[in-house]
Amino acid sequence: MSGGAASPTRQFVSELARENAAFWQGRDVRLDPAAPPAARLEQIRYRMRQGVYNELRSVELIAAWIPHVPERELRELLPGQLDDEQRHYQLLRRRLRDLDEDPDAYRPLPEWEALFDWLIACRTRPTLEKLAMFQFAGESQSCDGFETLIDLARDVDPETAELYRTQILPDEYRHAAIGRKALTLLAATREAQARARAACREMNQRVFAAYRAHRARVDRRA
Ligand SMILES: [Fe+2]
Ligand SMILES: [Fe+2]
Repeated sequence: MSGGAASPTRQFVSELARENAAFWQGRDVRLDPAAPPAARLEQIRYRMRQGVYNELRSVELIAAWIPHVPERELRELLPGQLDDEQRHYQLLRRRLRDLDEDPDAYRPLPEWEALFDWLIACRTRPTLEKLAMFQFAGESQSCDGFETLIDLARDVDPETAELYRTQILPDEYRHAAIGRKALTLLAATREAQARARAACREMNQRVFAAYRAHRARVDRRA
């Protein structure tokens, strides 16, 4: 950005990013930093199993959205994201196999399945809303979630921590930046800003519900 004050649209994007971060304070319940190492490792393994599914569905989601993103400067970023998510899927699958798990035996949580089904069904919503939901709100929260995962995995599973830190997290920051770019380009009016804010709220609520179900299942060791 060149010198001087940020444009009103950029100010809005920063403000919405802060609002989303505030929503997530204490709400990512998938991992418990206070858990003893053995329980923490089990929570991390569960994240990886669910992660294989999430990366695979992200590929499907981006593929479904590409035809419905007419804005050339945004559309051209999506095949790269699709490619990244496919690579993450393969990396996590391979890591689970190296840990003697069958990555395909995992039964995804119905709440996560419903979240992706809903996102895919949102394909015809305006680009502003779609990218506010998945890339801006969703991927930004994933980055924070991965930072926490890496911190908590460092002592109990350093190899997995490194995998996330070096091969997944940098891509996820790029995906979140696609969301910021979309809002910066498309949220120029008050009306558009209200729609972007509502889309983030809708996404955050749904993701939070999936996180709670996720943690409940880990605690049951289902
Ligand atoms: Fe990913
Ligand atoms: Fe991503």
